[in-house]
Amino acid sequence: MSQIPRHIALIMDGNGRWAQERGLERTKGHEAGERALWDVVLASLNLGIRYLSAFAFSTENWARPEPEVEFLLGFNRDLLRQRRDGLNERGVRIRRIGRRENVPDDLLQEFDRAEELTAGNDRMDLLVCFNYGGRAELEDAAKTGSIPDNLYAPDVPDVDLLIRTSGEKRISNFLLWQSAYAELYFTETLWPDFGAEALEEAVEDYGRRQRRFGGLT
Ligand code: IPE
Ligand code: IPE
Ligand code: MG
Repeated sequence: MSQIPRHIALIMDGNGRWAQERGLERTKGHEAGERALWDVVLASLNLGIRYLSAFAFSTENWARPEPEVEFLLGFNRDLLRQRRDGLNERGVRIRRIGRRENVPDDLLQEFDRAEELTAGNDRMDLLVCFNYGGRAELEDAAKTGSIPDNLYAPDVPDVDLLIRTSGEKRISNFLLWQSAYAELYFTETLWPDFGAEALEEAVEDYGRRQRRFGGLT
């Protein structure tokens, strides 16, 4: 492959529809989506991706019915417990980005623990975007001063490849600043059906793009 993106951002969409198609509860779609994320993390490590950002819960997702919100909070807490050692063994540094406010303490504690455990790893940074909103991040940064210096993870380079599954062609308030020159990749595949092969396809497609950043080649 000619060009490997340094930073891939994932809008993991379509869990609910995946479940609905099978006559299952939406929560089953989220569970299936987690398996897809694990596959994609392993595939990203194989490809040598240095930064992977995953949209786990947006600042707008609080608008969902309370049982689904409650499920997602508990689900993410349990996942951090289950996956942190496996990620740590593979050299992955876990980083939470997003607003802490409104996120329950037990979940924040699991994030903090995972971050501490994996802080020394440098093979890949996995940015778990939780209670994350691009506008909230920019508002928070603007309060402090220079925007790029005050993003939630200011050391992380811009997004090279932004992938959104489930056929929706929108950004939904994800990494607004960081995606200014991202290559966009949209696929009809629902997130739980996305995996290593699908990621490789997206990266191959990216390799055929010509990036100009406003200049000439
Ligand atoms: C993405 O899948 C997961 C989260 C937003 C947490 P959705 O839950 O949005 O699935 P659809 O879009 O309703 O199918
Ligand atoms: C984006 O998906 C947020 C996450 C994947 C966490 P949504 O399903 O919330 O986005 P919209 O509502 O379709 O724009
Ligand atoms: Mg959705």
